[in-house]
Amino acid sequence: MEQAEEKQGGTNEEEGAAAAGGGGGGGGGGRELGQKSGVKRRREEEEDEEETSPTKKLVSDHGEKVASHYNTLQEVGLVVRSQSRIFYMRNFNNWLKSVLIGEILDRVRGAGSRNVSVLDLGCGKGGDLLKWRRGGISHIVCADIAEVSVDQCRTRYEEMKRKSHSNEKIFSAQFIASDCSKEVLSERLDDPELMFDICSCQFVYHYSFESEQKADMMLRNACERLKPGGFFIGTTPDAYELVKRLEASDSLSFGNEVFKVSFQSKGSYPLFGCQYHFSLEGVVNVPEFLVYFPLFEHMAKRYNMRLVLKQRFSEFFEEKVKKENHRSLMMKMMALEPFPCEDGGQQATDNKEQYCHAEEHCSRPGVRPPVGTLSKSEWDATSIYLVFVFQKMS
Ligand SMILES: C[S@@+](CC[C@H](N)C(=O)[O-])C[C@H]1O[C@@H](n2cnc3c(N)ncnc32)[C@H](O)[C@@H]1O
Repeated sequence: MEQAEEKQGGTNEEEGAAAAGGGGGGGGGGRELGQKSGVKRRREEEEDEEETSPTKKLVSDHGEKVASHYNTLQEVGLVVRSQSRIFYMRNFNNWLKSVLIGEILDRVRGAGSRNVSVLDLGCGKGGDLLKWRRGGISHIVCADIAEVSVDQCRTRYEEMKRKSHSNEKIFSAQFIASDCSKEVLSERLDDPELMFDICSCQFVYHYSFESEQKADMMLRNACERLKPGGFFIGTTPDAYELVKRLEASDSLSFGNEVFKVSFQSKGSYPLFGCQYHFSLEGVVNVPEFLVYFPLFEHMAKRYNMRLVLKQRFSEFFEEKVKKENHRSLMMKMMALEPFPCEDGGQQATDNKEQYCHAEEHCSRPGVRPPVGTLSKSEWDATSIYLVFVFQKMS
């Protein structure tokens, strides 16, 4: 599933958009913006795997399809991205990853780790590099099946290093193009002794649920080099939610104008290889597979991993947004859309029904518009996902 990554460079957090207040949730309500938001469609730290028209290649192996798909994604500029219908949703997903990564880094540091090493499994074009930079890590290994993405990730890293201040020590990095559901990653490490504090697998793990063998290899790569007490964190679609929506649909698909999920059948869902197609903003994507979470959790035990957190995006958001620092990051990253938009501005869509929840929220006593929200369709898309955190037992 295509998701936003962070864009490196040009980040200026001090230009925060507006202060957050109370209020309801993303698509289910509105988050108050404390001041009239004069923000242009500017992103603070973003992303991104923006997709244009991927050239389709006839390939039999799903891994090849995935690599081919991501290799042909075009990087588009800020202007194009900021005009995207899902601009805020992408920023929202990015915010969520930032919060997750930040909190895990705090835990790792709290446990006494100084030189933090990270494995970014399915790193894409390096959209999370800036988050790791902010987190002050020492070393990263970025791995992805799509060679072109890995090259872009490396270029992004080198740019970041080149542009950094002389007094800032940027983490060291290794980049590996690999099908992490087939190949043992540890054999490719420059430092064969390297152990990780964190493995981050953002919007990736579901590709491996094609077969038990692949899911297990991905898990092995995520966990076998974790230090005792280390974390395996990630984001992936919630199979329960996908199946619930499918069962509620009178066809084999569901979605809205921003996303569509299509299955081949319903009623029976194999544990592995339960394939569906996902499209975002009209671009047909590569096949993905349901991840039956209890099975995932069970498999992780083989690697001595204990589930610490599993939360739907909606729950994670509701909890984290209560904290001032997360709220202010949310504003800086433009993770919610101001509603109503300022005079002369435009909402992400002209369809007023998309903002009924925000309108209703604004009418509540004590609420001072503008509020921060996502259009209903964007919320429906992002609320498919869940966040997970596993920890390696000692
Ligand atoms: C939706 S993108 C997410 C990229 C990045 N983690 C992020 O959060 O922006 C999914 C990524 O998973 C990678 N991927 C899928 N299957 C993979 C595999 N078997 N091994 C390594 N990477 C894989 C894709 O190439 C793609 O870059």
